[in-house]
Amino acid sequence: MTEKKVLIVYGSRFGATEGVAIKIAEIFRDNNVLAEVVDLKEKSDFDNFDNYDGLIIGSSIKIGQWTRHVKNFVRNMRLEIQKFTKPFGFYVCSAYAALEEQYAKVKEEYIPDKLTEFGISIDYYDAFGGVIDFSESSRMGWLEKKIMKIAGNQATGAQVEEEYTDLRDWDQIEKFALGFLDLLKA
Ligand SMILES: Cc1cc2nc3c(=O)[nH]c(=O)nc-3n(C[C@H](O)[C@H](O)[C@H](O)COP(=O)(O)O)c2cc1C
Repeated sequence: MTEKKVLIVYGSRFGATEGVAIKIAEIFRDNNVLAEVVDLKEKSDFDNFDNYDGLIIGSSIKIGQWTRHVKNFVRNMRLEIQKFTKPFGFYVCSAYAALEEQYAKVKEEYIPDKLTEFGISIDYYDAFGGVIDFSESSRMGWLEKKIMKIAGNQATGAQVEEEYTDLRDWDQIEKFALGFLDLLKA
């Protein structure tokens, strides 16, 4: 039997969504499923998804929005996504997803609510926490750091003093990847 192949495309501003894409791909490869990981900043032109057995889209959230590249990808590929009958998953990385009382709300707002605007429905999706990075090597500008301090404090319920806080729950991410593998097998 030939190996199944999944396309994982993502848009990441500060690295959290990218790290999740890489982790999901690792889990797939460990389970003999090929994973092609594509940063939509680098490549976003696909004719169709005929060569893939599954598709996962990941997006960073900033001020309630996906990245521009994810938005463009979904807009441009909406007809292909609509007719893709194989497993389709979507995830976001967002600071508020790490907050228990916000999780269910942001998961709906950031994924199915937005996809509906493109006429796309989704059954398999999840919202993961993000990273709060105030380190020297951070990709955040000073204003972004300032906003993040406020959002981070709200999301963690505590003062974010650390240089680098990772709010991603790797068990949750593994569960998402393994659940997707089940869909591929079904
Ligand atoms: C300027 C700014 C705005 C943000 N806005 C939101 C937001 O509206 N909701 C949210 O849950 N997280 C928000 N975040 C947190 C990001 O979602 C988090 O940093 C995540 O790691 C982003 O994914 P990325 O690292 O892949 O870019 C914001 C972060 C910054 C810097």
